[in-house]
Amino acid sequence: MAEWVPAIPVHALPETGGKLFTYLDKRIALFRTPRGVFATDNRCPHQGYALVQGDVKDDVLTCAWHNWKFRLQDGDCTFGGEAVRSYPVRITSGLIEVDVQDAAQEIVRPVLFASLLEAMGEVDVGRIARDTMRLQGIGTPLPEIVREGVRYAAPRAEYGWDHSLATLTDCLRLAAMFEGPIRSLPVVQGLAVASQDQVRRPLRPQPDPLDPIAAYGSLEDGLAAFPALVDDEQVDEAEALFRGLPAAGATREQLRHALLEAVTDHFLSYGHAMIFCQKAFELIDSIGWAEADTVLAPLVPDITWGTRYDRLPYMRRFLQTWEAAELDLASLVSKQDGGVLDGPAFRRALLDGKPEEAFSALGGALEAGVPVFRLIDETSRAAAERLGRFDIDLDLDDTNEWGWLDVTHTLTYTDALRWAWSVDPSPEVLRGLFHAAWFVQWTGQLDARGSITAPAPHRTEDADDVFAAIVGRDPDGAVALVEGYEGPRQPLEVAVGRAAAEDHSVAPIMVAHTVKTAQAAIVESRALGDEPGSRAPLSAAARFLASPKRERFVYQATLEAVAFLQGRSKGELEGS
Ligand code: FES
Repeated sequence: MAEWVPAIPVHALPETGGKLFTYLDKRIALFRTPRGVFATDNRCPHQGYALVQGDVKDDVLTCAWHNWKFRLQDGDCTFGGEAVRSYPVRITSGLIEVDVQDAAQEIVRPVLFASLLEAMGEVDVGRIARDTMRLQGIGTPLPEIVREGVRYAAPRAEYGWDHSLATLTDCLRLAAMFEGPIRSLPVVQGLAVASQDQVRRPLRPQPDPLDPIAAYGSLEDGLAAFPALVDDEQVDEAEALFRGLPAAGATREQLRHALLEAVTDHFLSYGHAMIFCQKAFELIDSIGWAEADTVLAPLVPDITWGTRYDRLPYMRRFLQTWEAAELDLASLVSKQDGGVLDGPAFRRALLDGKPEEAFSALGGALEAGVPVFRLIDETSRAAAERLGRFDIDLDLDDTNEWGWLDVTHTLTYTDALRWAWSVDPSPEVLRGLFHAAWFVQWTGQLDARGSITAPAPHRTEDADDVFAAIVGRDPDGAVALVEGYEGPRQPLEVAVGRAAAEDHSVAPIMVAHTVKTAQAAIVESRALGDEPGSRAPLSAAARFLASPKRERFVYQATLEAVAFLQGRSKGELEGS
């Protein structure tokens, strides 16, 4: 229904130029041309300058600031990137009246979603932000907005699950920490990363679902066949089968187990396969099981094509020890009878021991009946300490390929493993704990050399001090403040989450890892409860976030190209 409000007398509107009219929260620019009177929003959708200062020619309004052009009749943008809202106008007894009625949400929402997708296709971050805010303004829940981003990004992800989807997942979770209009900030960040990652990508060809009963005889046989197809790199067959499992009655638990079995058959992609599996199920929890095919199916190519680290020299010594031990994982799963763990000794084995010592610490603890969650807790603490020891100078040295991202995955992988074990405490998932122990041990070669002294705690009750130290690029100060923080937990988590969600990194890949590491640190710190050392994941994340980081790798790529042309191969790092 129309809502006509009186604006100004027609004679008060100059024949050339416009006039501003304000009604409640609306600021409307009025224009007069030989064809009549027109009304648009005063704020230009480009950068927000006043349209009333623009020029009108042939019923086209040109913004004075950067030349965007809008048809006065309907607000359509004839040059630039986005239409401006136009308002119906009528003249009653010489008085201009404007219909300020907002369209119903059911009408506006699809239009805004379409605009959002168009903006993602153009990597138009300003418009992504505006549409997100408009959607939030009409009461659209943030998971629904992220769902549209996922529907855009998932089918375009070239090799299946990738950082764009992980970032959307993490950003949606981080949004819960923000209040007011800025609550959408992490979601905008996630949508921006997703649009940058998928820009101009065509849809990934996807095999049609395959009926597992027709192909394998039964649902159970189809489920059993899935990990074997993945292992054999039959990517299309594996994805077709996976997509066909739900229609044959596979439950969420069965689908998850099939994926986790394939994920832990190897140590895949530097831990990413496990991390992405965790994110995929978290994402579905937020945006709805109806998106299962969109979200889960792209995991299959990611897992199938994932680099198998257990086939590389890095893991050889650890794996040889593991094989020689001939552990019965099924019996270890059922053992967990409360064996006592020497936490510091366990962490020392992972942090300072040889591969064999790290294996023995874990295998011995499991055989002694130590509960798996207790071991995940200690592995998490060890991973956090590993981040605390990382040699920051290494990251800034272009002559080597190692950097922060090689060590942050120890924490994010352990967090993903905690999730996997919580939903599927099986022998297959237990393999992932051995991978985590190796991971923490192996990344020890990235520690700073010489004795490492953690900064002394710096007492504060204000979590903003932590935030300031992070954005001020003061890693030691950030760690000292986290360790000396005496306020409630939540503001500290918000400080770390906010620092990750704002623009303190540039490259999309770095944004993906800042939000991923911050999110994992928050979850891990909560999981460790109030025990001593429970802050370790947060201080580790703060150190990572605060550190100056290499974000472009052109120089490094050039150096590698030189070595390539000289025919030099890369070797292993010492101590593998
Ligand atoms: S603000 Fe209008 S074109 Fe830039």
